[in-house]
Amino acid sequence: MKSKTSQLIYEQIANRLTELIERGTYRPGQRLPSVRQMSRRQAVSISTVLQAYRLLESRGLIEARPQSGYYVCAPSRNSLPEPEISSPGPDPCRVSLQELILMVLRDTLNPNLAHLGAALPNIELLPVERINRIMAALSRQSGRELHEYQFPPGLESLRIEIARRSAMYGCSLSPNDIVITSGGNEAIDLCLRAVCWPGDIVAIETPMYFGTLQALETHGLRALEIPTHPRDGISLEALQFAIEHNPVKAVLVISNFNNPLGSSIPDEKKKELVQLLERYDIPLIENDVSGEIYFTQERPTVCKAFDRKGLVMLCSSFSKDISPALRVGWTAAGKFKSQVEWLKFTSTGAATATLPQATIAEFLKSGGYDAHLRRIRREYARNVSLMSQTVMRYFPEGTRVTRPMGGFVVWVQLPDTVDSLELYKRALAGGIAITPGYVFSPTNQFPHFIRLNAAEWTYATERALEKLGEMVKELTESAA
Ligand SMILES: Cc1ncc(COP(=O)(O)O)c(C=O)c1O
Repeated sequence: MKSKTSQLIYEQIANRLTELIERGTYRPGQRLPSVRQMSRRQAVSISTVLQAYRLLESRGLIEARPQSGYYVCAPSRNSLPEPEISSPGPDPCRVSLQELILMVLRDTLNPNLAHLGAALPNIELLPVERINRIMAALSRQSGRELHEYQFPPGLESLRIEIARRSAMYGCSLSPNDIVITSGGNEAIDLCLRAVCWPGDIVAIETPMYFGTLQALETHGLRALEIPTHPRDGISLEALQFAIEHNPVKAVLVISNFNNPLGSSIPDEKKKELVQLLERYDIPLIENDVSGEIYFTQERPTVCKAFDRKGLVMLCSSFSKDISPALRVGWTAAGKFKSQVEWLKFTSTGAATATLPQATIAEFLKSGGYDAHLRRIRREYARNVSLMSQTVMRYFPEGTRVTRPMGGFVVWVQLPDTVDSLELYKRALAGGIAITPGYVFSPTNQFPHFIRLNAAEWTYATERALEKLGEMVKELTESAA
């Protein structure tokens, strides 16, 4: 067996080159540096470079031309076939996904599986040691205060840091605009409860993150699915039509790097969305939990940046980029802030636990957050790109895949004959966990889709994808 180190070096070189090819630094038809040149430049052996080049060949990114060298043959990411805009029915419906979601969540906890499904951040990319050090120091320095009751809206020092950062995405929040919550899910839950009553209709992007569907189910709300494009999100025309024909009480979007779709609403369209909802006086619950994990030069804005009437309820959390276990999220709920604050008080009796809040506040204040974000953006950009390319290589014809510009999930449309629950069961039996498309729609819009998590990219990830591709092929063939 190869040592982990040698595997990592050639993989590292291959991954770096993949990124350069993806970004167009090496274009299709161009020659890569010769094996000898590369070995000198990287200070590694010829055989390590050969291994890296072979891996790139097997990824379909380069080809060897006899006596001439290695040439880029990768289609650009833009030429990967992507799923089409979703097309749900026109009527609202109750959500009833509890059993299915619980089953998928249980499998997420099984440590013996290769986890390609759950949208968990890569633990290696979280600032674990730094956070642990901050926690230890805080416990030593302010041992007593940490044990006193705190009440919503939450720790002022954290709200100050969040407000300071809001200029980066086009907002000018004040600490008083913010309520700290126990994670992003709680933020969304509180916002829903602040503006809706059981039976009310909430218009949502579809597919939609199943945690939010769970919240709709728990509160007896009805979901009205709106067609959503894998690149630019919710269709405004369809949304307007839906609003004109239904008493919509709130609209809910994941504005940047939708889970599972990967879509991001372009900034100009965010403005149009806010203006549309202003005309009908409908609150917009905006989920931006992955907003910091962008692969472009600049951070995309949020709908909240265009909010003039206080109708936008922006929700986020630190679960994707700092630690999901600290359970710290927040919302800037505009004119519904007091109601949200009250609901937070009634649901947890006090504020979110103090130590996690103080830890995140200290991390943001001490300046390491941006360097950390730059690092994880690079890693996730590379992993997502590798995941999309690799799916297209190993999965049969008829497969489509998204190419998100942020976050770390990839949404895969399988050939029509492949049922994602059947694949889910086979994959589990083969030691692989995926998330079937069924859990992302209350009306089963996505039976032929799966969500994959690209947070981690290792040799084992690639092999698991290859195996999954084989299973999809078998299912396609057995249906023929
Ligand atoms: C879109 C989206 N919203 C909310 C959450 C939950 O965030 P938190 O763990 O902070 O509650 C997730 C986690 O997967 C998510 O993907």
